[in-house]
Amino acid sequence: MKRIVILISGRGSNMEAIQRRCAQERWPAQVVAVIANQPQAAGLEFARAHGIATAVVDHQRFSTRESFDAALAEAIEAHSPDLVVLAGFMRILGDTFVRRYEGRMLNIHPSLLPAFPGLHTHRRALQAGCKASGATVHFVTPQLDHGPIVMQSVVPVLPDDSEESLAARVLATEHRIYPQAVQWFVRGELRIEAGVVRHIAGASQLLLT
Ligand code: GRF
Repeated sequence: MKRIVILISGRGSNMEAIQRRCAQERWPAQVVAVIANQPQAAGLEFARAHGIATAVVDHQRFSTRESFDAALAEAIEAHSPDLVVLAGFMRILGDTFVRRYEGRMLNIHPSLLPAFPGLHTHRRALQAGCKASGATVHFVTPQLDHGPIVMQSVVPVLPDDSEESLAARVLATEHRIYPQAVQWFVRGELRIEAGVVRHIAGASQLLLT
Protein backbone atom coordinates (compact mmCIF):
# COMPACT_ATOMS: atom_id res chain seq x y z
CA MET A 1 0.00 0.00 0.00
CA LYS A 2 1.30 3.41 -0.96
CA ARG A 3 1.07 6.01 1.77
CA ILE A 4 -0.35 9.39 0.79
CA VAL A 5 -0.02 12.57 2.87
CA ILE A 6 -2.19 15.49 1.73
CA LEU A 7 -1.40 19.12 2.57
CA ILE A 8 -4.26 21.65 2.64
CA SER A 9 -4.89 25.23 3.64
CA GLY A 10 -8.66 25.53 3.47
CA ARG A 11 -11.77 23.85 2.12
CA GLY A 12 -10.03 20.67 1.02
CA SER A 13 -12.43 19.63 -1.72
CA ASN A 14 -9.61 18.16 -3.81
CA MET A 15 -8.41 16.22 -0.78
CA GLU A 16 -11.95 14.89 -0.35
CA ALA A 17 -12.18 13.87 -4.00
CA ILE A 18 -8.89 11.95 -3.75
CA GLN A 19 -9.80 10.25 -0.47
CA ARG A 20 -13.24 9.20 -1.75
CA ARG A 21 -11.94 7.68 -4.96
CA CYS A 22 -9.04 6.02 -3.19
CA ALA A 23 -11.48 4.29 -0.83
CA GLN A 24 -14.24 3.55 -3.35
CA GLU A 25 -11.96 2.18 -6.04
CA ARG A 26 -9.69 0.35 -3.60
CA TRP A 27 -6.48 1.84 -4.87
CA PRO A 28 -3.30 0.18 -3.60
CA ALA A 29 -2.96 3.25 -1.40
CA GLN A 30 -4.20 4.97 1.69
CA VAL A 31 -4.49 8.61 2.71
CA VAL A 32 -2.58 8.33 5.97
CA ALA A 33 -2.57 11.98 7.03
CA VAL A 34 -3.95 15.41 6.20
CA ILE A 35 -1.75 18.29 7.33
CA ALA A 36 -2.81 21.94 7.29
CA ASN A 37 -0.90 25.17 7.78
CA GLN A 38 -4.14 26.84 8.92
CA PRO A 39 -5.64 25.65 12.22
CA GLN A 40 -9.10 26.55 10.89
CA ALA A 41 -8.80 24.70 7.58
CA ALA A 42 -12.27 23.28 6.95
CA GLY A 43 -10.89 20.15 5.32
CA LEU A 44 -9.48 18.96 8.64
CA GLU A 45 -13.03 18.13 9.75
CA PHE A 46 -13.59 15.81 6.81
CA ALA A 47 -10.29 14.07 7.51
CA ARG A 48 -11.09 13.57 11.19
CA ALA A 49 -14.57 12.30 10.36
CA HIS A 50 -12.97 9.70 8.08
CA GLY A 51 -10.48 8.49 10.65
CA ILE A 52 -7.50 10.06 8.93
CA ALA A 53 -4.69 11.41 11.11
CA THR A 54 -4.51 15.19 11.05
CA ALA A 55 -1.86 17.71 12.04
CA VAL A 56 -1.51 21.48 11.95
CA VAL A 57 1.78 23.22 11.31
CA ASP A 58 0.76 26.86 11.67
CA HIS A 59 3.09 28.97 9.55
CA GLN A 60 2.41 31.98 11.78
CA ARG A 61 4.33 30.33 14.59
CA PHE A 62 7.55 30.32 12.57
CA SER A 63 9.74 33.32 11.90
CA THR A 64 11.50 31.92 8.83
CA ARG A 65 10.47 29.83 5.86
CA GLU A 66 13.26 27.37 6.67
CA SER A 67 11.98 26.70 10.18
CA PHE A 68 8.41 26.28 8.91
CA ASP A 69 9.55 23.94 6.14
CA ALA A 70 11.57 21.89 8.64
CA ALA A 71 8.59 21.52 10.98
CA LEU A 72 6.34 20.64 8.07
CA ALA A 73 8.80 18.01 6.84
CA GLU A 74 8.93 16.53 10.34
CA ALA A 75 5.12 16.31 10.48
CA ILE A 76 5.08 14.67 7.06
CA GLU A 77 7.89 12.24 7.82
CA ALA A 78 6.00 11.00 10.88
CA HIS A 79 3.74 9.27 8.32
CA SER A 80 6.49 7.91 6.01
CA PRO A 81 4.71 8.90 2.79
CA ASP A 82 5.33 7.56 -0.69
CA LEU A 83 3.50 10.56 -2.13
CA VAL A 84 2.87 14.09 -0.88
CA VAL A 85 -0.17 15.79 -2.42
CA LEU A 86 -0.55 19.57 -2.30
CA ALA A 87 -4.29 20.24 -2.48
CA GLY A 88 -5.00 23.94 -2.15
CA PHE A 89 -1.89 24.33 0.01
CA MET A 90 -1.25 28.06 -0.08
CA ARG A 91 2.32 28.33 1.19
CA ILE A 92 5.41 28.62 -0.96
CA LEU A 93 7.84 25.84 -0.10
CA GLY A 94 11.61 26.33 -0.11
CA ASP A 95 14.02 24.57 -2.45
CA THR A 96 15.40 22.19 0.18
CA PHE A 97 11.91 21.00 1.07
CA VAL A 98 10.89 20.62 -2.57
CA ARG A 99 14.02 18.68 -3.51
CA ARG A 100 13.47 16.30 -0.63
CA TYR A 101 10.18 15.23 -2.24
CA GLU A 102 11.27 15.50 -5.87
CA GLY A 103 9.37 13.04 -8.05
CA ARG A 104 6.94 12.20 -5.27
CA MET A 105 5.09 15.47 -4.67
CA LEU A 106 2.15 16.62 -6.78
CA ASN A 107 0.28 19.93 -6.95
CA ILE A 108 -2.87 21.15 -8.66
CA HIS A 109 -3.11 24.64 -10.08
CA PRO A 110 -6.31 26.15 -11.48
CA SER A 111 -4.93 27.28 -14.84
CA LEU A 112 -3.49 25.81 -17.99
CA LEU A 113 0.15 26.01 -16.94
CA PRO A 114 2.52 27.49 -17.93
CA ALA A 115 -0.10 30.26 -18.21
CA PHE A 116 -0.95 32.12 -15.01
CA PRO A 117 1.21 30.66 -12.26
CA GLY A 118 0.55 32.25 -8.86
CA LEU A 119 -2.63 33.80 -7.49
CA HIS A 120 -5.92 35.04 -9.01
CA THR A 121 -5.73 32.75 -12.01
CA HIS A 122 -9.39 33.01 -12.98
CA ARG A 123 -9.42 36.82 -12.80
CA ARG A 124 -6.28 36.92 -14.93
CA ALA A 125 -7.71 34.47 -17.49
CA LEU A 126 -10.85 36.62 -17.80
CA GLN A 127 -8.84 39.85 -18.06
CA ALA A 128 -6.70 38.29 -20.79
CA GLY A 129 -9.81 37.35 -22.76
CA CYS A 130 -8.95 33.64 -22.71
CA LYS A 131 -11.53 31.47 -24.50
CA ALA A 132 -10.48 28.37 -22.60
CA SER A 133 -9.07 27.73 -19.17
CA GLY A 134 -8.59 24.70 -16.98
CA ALA A 135 -6.45 23.05 -14.37
CA THR A 136 -3.08 21.35 -14.25
CA VAL A 137 -1.72 18.55 -12.06
CA HIS A 138 2.07 18.64 -12.02
CA PHE A 139 5.08 17.34 -10.16
CA VAL A 140 6.43 20.02 -7.85
CA THR A 141 9.77 21.62 -8.64
CA PRO A 142 11.42 24.58 -6.90
CA GLN A 143 9.91 27.06 -9.36
CA LEU A 144 6.36 27.99 -8.26
CA ASP A 145 3.58 26.30 -10.25
CA HIS A 146 6.03 24.70 -12.66
CA GLY A 147 7.17 21.15 -13.09
CA PRO A 148 6.37 18.16 -15.27
CA ILE A 149 2.67 18.11 -16.22
CA VAL A 150 0.76 14.93 -15.34
CA MET A 151 -2.71 15.90 -16.53
CA GLN A 152 -4.70 18.92 -17.66
CA SER A 153 -8.39 19.72 -17.97
CA VAL A 154 -9.77 22.27 -20.38
CA VAL A 155 -13.07 24.13 -19.97
CA PRO A 156 -14.61 26.89 -22.06
CA VAL A 157 -14.62 30.46 -20.79
CA LEU A 158 -18.15 31.75 -21.43
CA PRO A 159 -18.92 35.37 -22.36
CA ASP A 160 -20.81 36.14 -19.16
CA ASP A 161 -18.42 34.32 -16.82
CA SER A 162 -17.47 35.83 -13.47
CA GLU A 163 -14.40 34.79 -11.53
CA GLU A 164 -16.70 32.62 -9.40
CA SER A 165 -18.50 30.87 -12.26
CA LEU A 166 -15.23 30.12 -14.04
CA ALA A 167 -13.64 28.90 -10.79
CA ALA A 168 -16.58 26.54 -10.20
CA ARG A 169 -16.37 25.10 -13.72
CA VAL A 170 -12.63 24.53 -13.36
CA LEU A 171 -12.97 23.09 -9.84
CA ALA A 172 -15.41 20.43 -11.04
CA THR A 173 -12.69 19.22 -13.41
CA GLU A 174 -10.02 19.40 -10.69
CA HIS A 175 -12.03 16.81 -8.77
CA ARG A 176 -11.71 14.49 -11.77
CA ILE A 177 -8.11 14.99 -12.87
CA TYR A 178 -6.43 15.10 -9.45
CA PRO A 179 -7.72 11.68 -8.31
CA GLN A 180 -6.81 10.30 -11.74
CA ALA A 181 -3.25 11.60 -11.52
CA VAL A 182 -2.81 10.29 -7.97
CA GLN A 183 -4.18 6.90 -8.95
CA TRP A 184 -1.68 6.65 -11.80
CA PHE A 185 1.15 7.58 -9.43
CA VAL A 186 0.26 5.01 -6.78
CA ARG A 187 -0.08 2.33 -9.43
CA GLY A 188 3.37 3.22 -10.77
CA GLU A 189 1.96 4.08 -14.17
CA LEU A 190 3.77 7.39 -14.75
CA ARG A 191 7.17 7.95 -16.33
CA ILE A 192 9.04 11.24 -16.66
CA GLU A 193 11.17 11.43 -19.79
CA ALA A 194 13.14 14.60 -20.45
CA GLY A 195 10.79 16.56 -18.23
CA VAL A 196 7.64 15.21 -19.88
CA VAL A 197 5.27 12.93 -17.99
CA ARG A 198 3.79 10.02 -19.87
CA HIS A 199 1.34 7.33 -18.86
CA ILE A 200 3.01 4.00 -19.50
CA ALA A 201 -0.01 2.58 -21.35
CA GLY A 202 -0.79 5.81 -23.19
CA ALA A 203 -3.91 6.79 -21.21
CA SER A 204 -5.16 10.25 -22.14
CA GLN A 205 -3.67 12.90 -19.89
CA LEU A 206 -6.18 15.48 -21.12
CA LEU A 207 -9.75 16.03 -19.96
CA LEU A 208 -11.79 18.15 -22.37
CA THR A 209 -15.20 19.30 -21.15
C1 GRF B 1 -8.22 24.76 -6.02
O1 GRF B 1 -8.81 25.54 -7.02
C2 GRF B 1 -6.79 24.48 -6.32
O2 GRF B 1 -6.53 24.32 -7.67
C3 GRF B 1 -6.13 25.74 -5.82
O3 GRF B 1 -6.82 26.07 -4.64
C4 GRF B 1 -8.12 25.52 -4.70
C5 GRF B 1 -8.24 24.61 -3.51
O4 GRF B 1 -9.54 24.12 -3.33
N1 GRF B 1 -4.71 25.54 -5.68
P1 GRF B 1 -9.81 22.95 -2.29
O5 GRF B 1 -9.20 23.38 -0.96
O6 GRF B 1 -9.21 21.69 -2.81
O7 GRF B 1 -11.31 22.88 -2.18
